[in-house]
Parts: sequence; C-alpha cells; structure tokens
Amino acid sequence: MSYTSERSRALFERALAVMVEGGSSPSRGPANYGAYPIFIARGEGAWVYDVDGNRYIDWMMAYGALPLGHAHPDVVAAVAEAAATGTLFAAATEIEVEVAEAIQRMVPSAERVRFANTGTEAAMAALRLARGYTGRPKFIKFEGHYHGWHDDFLINAHPHAPASLGHPRDPVRIAESSGLNRRALDDTIVVPWNDLAAVERAVGAHPGQVAAIVTEGVMANMGVIPPEPGYLPALEALARDRGILFVLDETVTGFRLAPGGCQELYGLRPDISTFGKALGAGLPVAAITGRAEIMDAFRWGGVLHYGTQNASRVGLAAARASLRVLAANGGAAFEQLRRTADALASGAREIFADAGTRAIVQQVGPMLQIMFTDRPAIHDYREFCAYVDRARFQRFALALFRHGVYMSPSAALHSVVSLAHTGAHVEATLDAMRKALGDG
Ligand SMILES: Cc1ncc(COP(=O)(O)O)c(C=O)c1O
Repeated sequence: MSYTSERSRALFERALAVMVEGGSSPSRGPANYGAYPIFIARGEGAWVYDVDGNRYIDWMMAYGALPLGHAHPDVVAAVAEAAATGTLFAAATEIEVEVAEAIQRMVPSAERVRFANTGTEAAMAALRLARGYTGRPKFIKFEGHYHGWHDDFLINAHPHAPASLGHPRDPVRIAESSGLNRRALDDTIVVPWNDLAAVERAVGAHPGQVAAIVTEGVMANMGVIPPEPGYLPALEALARDRGILFVLDETVTGFRLAPGGCQELYGLRPDISTFGKALGAGLPVAAITGRAEIMDAFRWGGVLHYGTQNASRVGLAAARASLRVLAANGGAAFEQLRRTADALASGAREIFADAGTRAIVQQVGPMLQIMFTDRPAIHDYREFCAYVDRARFQRFALALFRHGVYMSPSAALHSVVSLAHTGAHVEATLDAMRKALGDG
C-alpha cells in the first residue's frame, strides 16, 4: 500500500479555519513540517499511528517527555487510578511529598522541591528566585540556549544567519518575538557557550549586577552539542567564586541522561535546577529544585510562585510511576537508553559513510542528532548556524516519514531514545534511513 497523508492534509485545512496556524505551538506546524503536519491518532510503546493509518517508529517521544515510551502500562494504570479518585484538589496531597522525595533521592542537589507544570514556568520561577535571593537584576544566558518562551529567555534562542550574530565578544541581542518586554534585552546578558573566558568578561563588565548564570547542561535546542570537557564544572566554580547563582536547566536532560540527570553525569551541584519533560512521563509536571537556603526564599512574603495546576494529582501519579521504573535496579534503565542510542548513532554514521553523504551524528547518552555538515563536529551555536544544512535535514526527516520513521523535521531538535525502543526498532530505522537517502 502506498503512503498517503491525505487525512492529515484535510484535518490541517479544517484546523486552519479554527486554530491559529492550525495548531497549538509553531513547532508542530508548517514551520517544521513543510506544507502540513502529520496528525497522530495514538501511540503505543515505540510506535505512533497517524489518522491515515500509517504507523511510525517514534524518535520524537513528545520532545523527550516519554522516557518509557507511549502508554506504558504502569503510567496508564497510575493515571487511571488518579483520574478516578480526583484529579486536582488545590490542597496538599501525599503524592507531592512522595514525588519530591523520589526526586531528592535521584538528584542530591534537590534539597527542596517546588512543582510547576512546564519547563517555561520552572525557568521563570528559577529566575525570579535568583533575582529575589540575590537582589540583582541581570542574568547570563548563552547563545542558542532555549529555556522556554518567556520574555527574559526568548533572546538568541533560535538559529540565525551567521552575519546577524555580531562579534562573539559582544553578541547582538536578538529578540525572538514581537511583544517582548524590551527591558529583557538589557537584563539578559548573552554570551557564547563552551567559552569560559566569555563568561569571565561578561561577569567583569557587570559587577554586582548578575544574579545567575543559567545554562542547559547539553545544548539540546541546536541539535545535540555537548559541553567541552571540564567546561560545566569550571562554569559552576566561576559562578560560586563570584557569588552568582548557578542555575542548571535540566528540562531536557533530567531523568534522561542519568538518575541524577546531567548534574550527575558531569559532577555538578547547581544552586537551582529546573526539570520538566521526562519528569511527567507525558503529563505537564515540572519542578524547581535546589539548595534549601535559596529555595526557602519562595515562601509567602518572599518570592512568589503560584499555580492552580501545580502538583496535579494525575501528573504526579504519572511521575511517580515513571520515576519508579527509571530508578529501579540502580538506574539500569539509563544504561539501556544509552546503548540503544549508541546503536542508532553508530548505524547511522555507517550509512552516511557508505553513501558518501557528508553528515555526522552528535550524541550524549540517549540524545542524538544527525547533522548534514562538512565539519567533523559542531561545537557551538555559531558553528551550528554556519555549517549545518537544516533544509537538508528537514527533507531527510520528511522522507523518513514515508518509510515509517518519525523524527523531528527540525534540525535544531534531536532524536529521543526511550525504554520502549529495541534493537529491532533501531534496525528498521536504519533501513528506512538507507531508503530515505536513496530518495535524494
Ligand atoms: C532546555 C529547555 N528548557 C525549557 C524548555 C521549556 O519547556 P516547556 O516547553 O515545557 O515550557 C525547553 C523546551 O523545549 C527546553 O528544551
């Protein structure tokens, strides 16, 4: 049977008449998917099924929110039970204590935990906390790092033409949206990542003004770009030395790279961390965690943080079930995730080498991304903007759809390995890649 996505096309036309851009986030629409997105009807394990009846091996996994895969039975049972006994009380519940304790066991820097719903909210709260605790207005963020869509962070967060970036010693601050609070452009200090001297200079240029250094641990919104060896511990030490809070955004890396996230992998002890995505196993659960003394500033009468939906019982039930699976057997799950990703990455590299295609695969644990480039490696945002052929990647990913593989068509995102992926899924994906390359 030949591939068709006519029902998706028809649904998109219907959606356009009622929803802005035909969807709920630009990344799910034509910005990434070409003419129209595929409408997914259901997911199971490593598979998703679309409205036309096609099935795909899913390497997107809800942007990393599904470490166990789709509809894991433990998560399904936990959600069903919570839904049947009351979804949300806006009152204290035992399960929040339990999930906070589970997080603390896995992430030693989480001396205190506060729940929110999304990575964006967690980042906003962490920044307010850092400003409130230090009494300083500015913070340092890195070129190409994405921390959600709030004004303070939506600066130099997307790929741009290299000529628009300015000199790396003084990057042009690029507001990614109309309507941003213009003060954000003054208070958000932007520096290149993987460059300690750049941070030294920025701190020196704003004495007594910098509340926090906020960083992703692995650059996960420019494909996958790992930190240079020793960079993150040195960054943390620099922050501590200058009395600046070190804020680690683990929205992508948390509960995916290791039981204790990227901070465990790289030996860090952040003052504040933020978590989202994988924490909720597909439901909107996020957390801000950190040193007790700092986190205590969140008290009523201190730094405010509210939320009707904070610590939803359904979300926390999913989180508890998922964290149990991830923490079992000394965290063996993380080793499995890494092995599956290794197999996919090395298989893909072989295919590109055999085909004479100039492409590399960058990987950290279960996160990997294919980059069409002449370079042997991509080390930072500017290299990504200058040397990665994003249009080629989009064509490749869209061709993969026709061969039953669902990878994000955005070169700036990455593939996500879940516990539901097996060697057979890897082999079938590699086969699809061979065919997609053959399609041109
Ligand atoms: C590193 C990072 N931080 C924060 C966010 C924002 O999370 P959310 O989409 O849940 O608001 C994202 C989302 O992709 C992210 O990649």
